[in-house]
Amino acid sequence: MTRMQHLGWFFSRGFGPQGWKRPSQRWDWRWTDPAIYQQAVRELEQAGLDLVIAEDAISLGTEETLDVRIREAYGGPKLDPLLLAPYLFQATRSIGVAPTVNAGITPPYLAARQAATLHHLSRGRFGLNVVTDVKSARHVGLPELAHDAAYERAEEWTSLLRRLWRSWGDGALVEDAETGRYADASRLDAFRHEGEHFRVAGPLNAPPFGDLGEPAIVSPGGSGPGLAFAGRNSDVQLALSPLDVDSIRAYRARIHEAAREHGRSAAGIRILFVVKPELVSSPEEADRLVRASASPDDAAIADILAGQSSDLETDLTVLDWDRPLDPAIFGDHVSQGTIRGLRGPYERFEDATLRELAAAKARRRRLPDGGTVGTAEELADVLEALGDDADNDGIILSGDLHPVTVHRMLDELVPVLRRRGVLRTEYGDGGIRANLFDF
Ligand SMILES: Cc1cc2nc3c(=O)[nH]c(=O)nc-3n(C[C@H](O)[C@H](O)[C@H](O)COP(=O)(O)O)c2cc1C
Repeated sequence: MTRMQHLGWFFSRGFGPQGWKRPSQRWDWRWTDPAIYQQAVRELEQAGLDLVIAEDAISLGTEETLDVRIREAYGGPKLDPLLLAPYLFQATRSIGVAPTVNAGITPPYLAARQAATLHHLSRGRFGLNVVTDVKSARHVGLPELAHDAAYERAEEWTSLLRRLWRSWGDGALVEDAETGRYADASRLDAFRHEGEHFRVAGPLNAPPFGDLGEPAIVSPGGSGPGLAFAGRNSDVQLALSPLDVDSIRAYRARIHEAAREHGRSAAGIRILFVVKPELVSSPEEADRLVRASASPDDAAIADILAGQSSDLETDLTVLDWDRPLDPAIFGDHVSQGTIRGLRGPYERFEDATLRELAAAKARRRRLPDGGTVGTAEELADVLEALGDDADNDGIILSGDLHPVTVHRMLDELVPVLRRRGVLRTEYGDGGIRANLFDF
């Protein structure tokens, strides 16, 4: 039997001048105008998506590399997606919104209260994408932690959010107009937490959630500590993996094992694989695109290098394209995963010139053979097969939150998925949790 799939949207590169230079964006280029995002999110809701997750980084990066980050707007500027959330809620009724919040930056009490506020205002549609980036600590006067220590801090942070959300115990909210009694302080948890990373006192100055349930926790980390964090805490794991049955099964098994280790049921986590498909109208067109990308021209190489320079906080555009890249060029601040991503199919950096590395990135491949270019029917085939053969929960489509991008991705896909019975046609009434767990 066809298994229904959960779809979401990853608002990649965050609330910034997304799509800078792209002609399709020029018809409406006031990126600070909430109307663009409201229009896009309304369309995501019409399509039946569970939630929108908004990327964020509070920092523009290290001082030495500011120019590579901002000159083509790859790494900034960015506004805070938490404060965009109310506009998105106002434009919609059912879809969930989960902005990124850095567990190392926002004090847990404030984060719990902001989340509580938005969850109440949206009638249960709020979530938090919990990230552990350590490089922005200096902006708020905190020490920079190592990777694993940042996850330990995120564990403590998340458990504090939960404790604060639960600090209004059963019966704390009385709301008895006859007696005039609003609440009963003896039911509040005035705890004092002194942990490794935080000292926090409860209770939270926010009413309990009642039927709304708690805000959803989303996590994107793929390392051992990242998967353990998901197993312990997450309602949604944003997963990166090739879209084939074996890889998806293996990834799911690791998360489920982590969940069981922490006494949770595997059914309590939605594992959604992030994909950025390029959907076109015919297989011939898809083949043409793939062929055309086989030998990228200098403009395409320059474009790839500009984006990579920003992600890697290292200016690759000024290097000799026809020589191998010396990995010693990357400082300690650069993510090892991103460096591995640049090396791509090559075993060592000596095995390719910089031009070849960029060309490998520019080359597109066909759906369903591990690539992203194909028709809506082809993507639907992949989704349906993963649901049936790997018990897959669903996917997160990645792109900017602009109506043009949303249309490109969904106009042909949604009718196909609906016809096949793998995409919802209506929402329940239970907020983000119902979207994620109603089926
Ligand atoms: C799909 C995806 C989305 C992410 N979004 C963000 C983000 O918005 N902000 C951020 O600081 N880090 C983001 N990250 C980075 C993770 O939070 C994490 O720092 C990174 O994946 C390293 O952790 P890991 O070693 O456990 O993978 C994202 C990662 C992935 C895979």
